Amino acid sequence: DWTADIFVENTVRGLQAKLGDDKVVMGLSGGVDSSVAATLIHQAIGKNLYCIFVDNGLLRKNEFEQVLESYEGMGLNVKGVDAKEEFYEALKGLTDPEDKRKAIGRVFIETFDRESHKIKDVKWLGQGTIYPDVIESVSVNGPSVTIKSHHNVGGLPEKMNLKVVEPLNLLFKDEVRNVGRALEISNNILGRHPFPGPGLGIRILGDITAEKVRILQEVDDIFISGLKEANLYDQVWQAGAMLLPVQSVGVMGDERTYEQVVALRAVASLDGMTADWVHLPYEFLAEVSNKIINKVRGVNRVVYDISSKPPATIEWE
Ligand code: XMP
Repeated sequence: DWTADIFVENTVRGLQAKLGDDKVVMGLSGGVDSSVAATLIHQAIGKNLYCIFVDNGLLRKNEFEQVLESYEGMGLNVKGVDAKEEFYEALKGLTDPEDKRKAIGRVFIETFDRESHKIKDVKWLGQGTIYPDVIESVSVNGPSVTIKSHHNVGGLPEKMNLKVVEPLNLLFKDEVRNVGRALEISNNILGRHPFPGPGLGIRILGDITAEKVRILQEVDDIFISGLKEANLYDQVWQAGAMLLPVQSVGVMGDERTYEQVVALRAVASLDGMTADWVHLPYEFLAEVSNKIINKVRGVNRVVYDISSKPPATIEWE
């Protein structure tokens, strides 16, 4: 029978045999998979694991600081790299979702590559790839169709001439969480909703500016904190906000306003392949909507996405 404890024991032993005194570099995202993979490798080889956490300027509000602190608290050898300006520069004027994904993926690889070269004699690239990623990267990005280019699989090792170590590549998400629990990783990391690699970059429809990121971070923070406070966060598989490329008329005091619209989305799902919109309580939606419109300058209208996947996708881009 498979148990998380035995998996940890065997995997750590296997990694020690495979890696010996070699150095491993790994990008962390704050997500469950990379955090669990890094913790396993760290248990096996300690400080020979070099972790890199890139701030792409498209993370949730305060996410970079908080996640970096958690990683340090776990004893990981981690370096935070602020590359916000490079990402914004590369994204300037881009509006097509796939162009934005490619630009974000490219700058990530450049940043990661540059940082890795500062580590002497690194031989391996650690990755948090799980089994569904392996399947999806084959079926979604097949020879004839590319639905969306997920940039968390592939690309890096070829360019960097590194061998790949992927301790989770035979596990499903719930097994990864169990392994994380066996490793005593905090629920603050294990219980997190999935968050796309390109982050807010694909939740700001159209072109991206630092100001739009600031607006969406505030909106998203009110929504996500609200879900946590109302004990709804754990009942939702994934939630977030989209900044729409439209302005709408509103009224504030005696003034007519003409400002941005945001859409809130919360879905129930098992694996992201299909999803239903969550019937959040009206009172909750009313409260969050009021708070957003009152507190976030530049937003005067909030809508709730009631589409399921398929035919709609979870993200809007
Ligand atoms: P969709 O929008 O395709 O999303 O229904 C399914 C799941 O995948 C995530 N997603 C991405 N993750 N890079 C990622 O790492 C991407 O480009 C990307 N696009 C979508 C999405 O957040 C959801 O969990």
